[in-house]
Amino acid sequence: MQCSWKAVLLLVLASIAIQYTAIRTFTAKSFHTCPGLAERLCKEGPTLAYNLSRKTHVLILATTRSGSSFMGQLFNQHLDVFYLFEPLYHVQNTMVPRFTQGRSPTDRRVILGTSRDLLRSLYDCDLYFLENYIKPPPINHTTNRIFRRGASRVLCSRPVCDPPGSPDLVLEERDCVRKCGLLNLTVAAEACREHSHVAIKTVRMPGVNDLRALVEDPRLNLKVIQLVRDPRGILASRSETFRDKYRLWRLWHSTGRKPYNLDETQLTTVCEDFSNSVSAGLQRPMWLKGKYMLVRYEDLARNPVKKTEEIYSFLGIPMDSHVARWLQNNTQGDPARGRNKYGMVRNSAATAEKWRFRLSYGIVVFAQNACQQVLEQLGYKMATSEEELKNPSVSLVEERDFRPFS
Ligand SMILES: *[C@@H]1O[C@H](CO)[C@@H](O)[C@H](O)[C@H]1NC(C)=O
Ligand SMILES: *[C@@H]1O[C@H](CO)[C@@H](O)[C@H](O)[C@H]1NC(C)=O
Ligand SMILES: *[C@@H]1O[C@H](CO)[C@@H](O)[C@H](O)[C@H]1NC(C)=O
Ligand SMILES: *[C@@H]1O[C@H](CO)[C@@H](O)[C@H](O)[C@H]1NC(C)=O
Repeated sequence: MQCSWKAVLLLVLASIAIQYTAIRTFTAKSFHTCPGLAERLCKEGPTLAYNLSRKTHVLILATTRSGSSFMGQLFNQHLDVFYLFEPLYHVQNTMVPRFTQGRSPTDRRVILGTSRDLLRSLYDCDLYFLENYIKPPPINHTTNRIFRRGASRVLCSRPVCDPPGSPDLVLEERDCVRKCGLLNLTVAAEACREHSHVAIKTVRMPGVNDLRALVEDPRLNLKVIQLVRDPRGILASRSETFRDKYRLWRLWHSTGRKPYNLDETQLTTVCEDFSNSVSAGLQRPMWLKGKYMLVRYEDLARNPVKKTEEIYSFLGIPMDSHVARWLQNNTQGDPARGRNKYGMVRNSAATAEKWRFRLSYGIVVFAQNACQQVLEQLGYKMATSEEELKNPSVSLVEERDFRPFS
């Protein structure tokens, strides 16, 4: 026998590799040329196929009180973008009560897996998939139970919303729910398909690691924008917004003494999630190449136009004039007249750092110890004394350039 066993083994391995590559290329190709679009569209030729393959799926990975609604608007206002505000709410809402807490590792895995399935379907404009998580279940694909429907421009304008006797206006959020009637998911899905890009905002995914299966999915062209904020700022903002839930933190602030039954995880979970996610992102693993951008809320607040341009440039989507105009309307408020709806004003270094006057030095020291690692990673400086904390001419946000790697 001329042929050694090594050669045979090599041959077998090579043929497996070739077949695997062929299958993978084939699946990737067939999905890319036809991402969930009606077949007739696919037959319309290579130009369209090319255009479709350029469809970008944007995920805004954020956390509560980190400026995510503002960031979402940067996409919601773009005429080529179909934007959904927090659809994973529905998963949480249907699945968590079924488990005791939704907090055991197994429950967590199940919820994350379900969330990824839902995201994948929504990026494919399969809005019927969402029906599995709506209570009561939609009848004939219509429902009035979409969480924060009014936060999505497309779901509140023609043809998805066609209120009798109204001009073709984008309605205010509360008007949308009142005037648009039932949401016809068939029409909404068509509108989704007609938009060049799909953007979804969520505060219900812990980190970018949990998205790896989606990032690597050849059917998607997923780009993750992680919005982070100084955890001390998040804590201050949450204490003010969720007064009941964060009552003990406010008690600490007013009495100067740390309540024994304080739920520290209200702070530490944010820091751990940030740290896990940001560590993964900053290590620049191949699977995130060209797929991940880190944005600090403070940078967005200081220079909204420049940062927005950088974000769109990373995505490879031309920014449109509606986004620019919306930014102008919503970031150039007069600070003297108070905050605008999104809490962003021009010259808003003060806005982004006003937590410094809302947290006592004791709480800040505690937070700095609990979150030391992530503060360093993200370029947030420690306040080393009460004087420094309360001195607005000393910024606690280091200049840092978190360039996406491509
Ligand atoms: C594809 O994109 C090009 C350039 O953006 C555009 O001119 C063309 O009309 C598009 N083709 C189709 C079928 O939409
Ligand atoms: C759903 O659609 C079917 C067929 O169009 C119709 O017969 C039925 O009455 C509809 N159900 C409701 C609750 O509207
Ligand atoms: C929803 O819209 C589709 C497409 O326009 C239409 O065929 C269907 O009848 C509508 N459903 C309801 C319940 O009105
Ligand atoms: C900006 O504000 C003006 C005046 O309030 C309003 O008419 C316009 O529709 C706004 N534009 C955007 C994009 O929000």
